[in-house]
Amino acid sequence: MSLNIVLIAGSSQLKSQSAKVANYLGQRLLTLRLCKQIAVLDLGSDPLPLWPSEDSSDAWEKYSANLIQADALVVVAPEWNGMACPAIKNFFVYATHKELGHKPALLVGVSAGVGGAYPLSELRASSYKNCRICYLPEQLIVRKVEQLFNPGPGANPKEDSIRARADWTLEILAEYATAMKNIRSRIEIDAVSFANGM
Ligand SMILES: Cc1cc2nc3c(=O)[nH]c(=O)nc-3n(C[C@H](O)[C@H](O)[C@H](O)COP(=O)(O)O)c2cc1C
Repeated sequence: MSLNIVLIAGSSQLKSQSAKVANYLGQRLLTLRLCKQIAVLDLGSDPLPLWPSEDSSDAWEKYSANLIQADALVVVAPEWNGMACPAIKNFFVYATHKELGHKPALLVGVSAGVGGAYPLSELRASSYKNCRICYLPEQLIVRKVEQLFNPGPGANPKEDSIRARADWTLEILAEYATAMKNIRSRIEIDAVSFANGM
């Protein structure tokens, strides 16, 4: 498919597990020929200053340019203290409908243990209002992340099952991305009156 999909690794740690998961999913998108192009934007290796900041515009420019080109997003959010990591919340303070408006997005929760659901419910509740990102009803939770999505084949049948589910959710994302490609040109957000959602 001629899609461009951007994956956000939402951890502020360098070499995070979230980045590992984002890179794995990006490679699967290419291997399954679900899109033509991917970009992984890693908030750990390419941090955005905590907003507001005097030196924020250069850092955001690169993110913005990539996001504007995207037909769909994958948002990988690690669970920290039962919350979404602050780096991904900070990302959503920068992001506007210009970059993300009416684009489908797959949410992926990451946990070292058996958590991972809290960041997803948090982002579903509070990240979309102004940027108008459209989260799919489907989502992925990667528990015990250090044991999963490492190089090579799945380590056991449990991992095979989460790998199969990951492929399935990526296929769904690509279908949404194709179906929603044209709606953005048909919806004009009145930047003066309705720049912010209700
Ligand atoms: C400050 C901090 C708090 C964390 N709190 C949780 C938590 O509440 N629940 C959980 O399942 N994992 C928690 N973890 C573990 C992360 O899920 C783990 O680091 C995992 O690798 C994903 O984070 P990463 O992408 O930054 O590597 C925490 C990690 C950090 C650094």
